[in-house]
Amino acid sequence: MNCPRDWPEPIVRVQSLSDSGIHTIPERYVKPPGARPALVSSLHDNDNIPLIDLGGLLDDTLRESTLRHVSDACREWGFFQVVNHGVRPELMDQAREMWREFFHEPMEVKQAYANSPTTYEGYGSRLGVEKGAILDWSDYYFLHYLPVNVRDFNKWPSLPNSLREVIAEYSAQVVRLGGVLLKILSINLGLQEDFLQNTFGGENIGACLRVNFYPKCPQPDLTLGLSPHSDPGGLTFLLPDQQVPGLQVRRGDGWITVKPAPHAFIVNIGDQIQVLSNAIYKSVEHRVIVNSAFERVSLAYFYNPKSDLLIGPAKELVTPDRPALYPAMTFDEYRLYIRTKGPKGKSQLGESLNDHT
Ligand code: OGA
Ligand code: NI
Repeated sequence: MNCPRDWPEPIVRVQSLSDSGIHTIPERYVKPPGARPALVSSLHDNDNIPLIDLGGLLDDTLRESTLRHVSDACREWGFFQVVNHGVRPELMDQAREMWREFFHEPMEVKQAYANSPTTYEGYGSRLGVEKGAILDWSDYYFLHYLPVNVRDFNKWPSLPNSLREVIAEYSAQVVRLGGVLLKILSINLGLQEDFLQNTFGGENIGACLRVNFYPKCPQPDLTLGLSPHSDPGGLTFLLPDQQVPGLQVRRGDGWITVKPAPHAFIVNIGDQIQVLSNAIYKSVEHRVIVNSAFERVSLAYFYNPKSDLLIGPAKELVTPDRPALYPAMTFDEYRLYIRTKGPKGKSQLGESLNDHT
């Protein structure tokens, strides 16, 4: 499986479609009936993913219960929100609002960073290179922070002014949080506290940012902002739009709409941690719905293994009763699947597709 060097057909910016004032969306964005979001309120309307106060880690009387809370969320949900996570709230708002400004820069400014399927870095409007594929209602910006040798400031937007500095500071703080959580997950799995960090490559982990821009959509019941997928990497730290919900997490046969807590990060387990934990922790499918009244901006930070290290189930978690469920693979090999096919549920882990084909 190889990734072509260019997109199979001309790129259309979803934001331009939205701004053009159309009342019906082009056929390319219309999902088959079984894959459309049911926008009627569901049984799960009051449900939410667990909310965890990480401040408890620093308190002797609360540390054990905080660890257990994280452990339960990783086993049962694959998703949770965290507060008191150490990233400055003002920095979170500044990062999100500066990216919103970027997406409102003139099209020429954004087009200067147009991306290609070889690295995906830059301004993009599709995931996957299948000609004629049905597309999602979103544009995005993708950039690398770590390892340092792949960081290229020229591929980060130069406008709005000081966006680069803000991304650098935000990245440093989120990466620090990533290190804290990998320790907690290692301890909770009964491993040495540095196990996951070392397995991910120590200082040379991969850290990259995907900023999602979901423009207003005139027919939100026919399409999705982002199709069901699990994140291919290690851990994801999502900074959602504070005003506009949209993220839905699979729970049984249905979907739960996440209600973001103020200045919380939404954390989720990616496929590499499902593999390393030999499926004790699950990487859970999620998707994004759009709406006709508001645009939505989110920042997804991916904390990943160094891309050329072999990742397989930790030998401590493989027993005669629980044999290794996955072969070892490098993250480079692994993510080629999503980069070529686009978001397709969890089929890359050999799990079957559900309501979206
Ligand atoms: C992602 C993702 C969710 C969102 O970028 O992988 O799942 O709310 N984003 O934008
Ligand atoms: Ni995701």
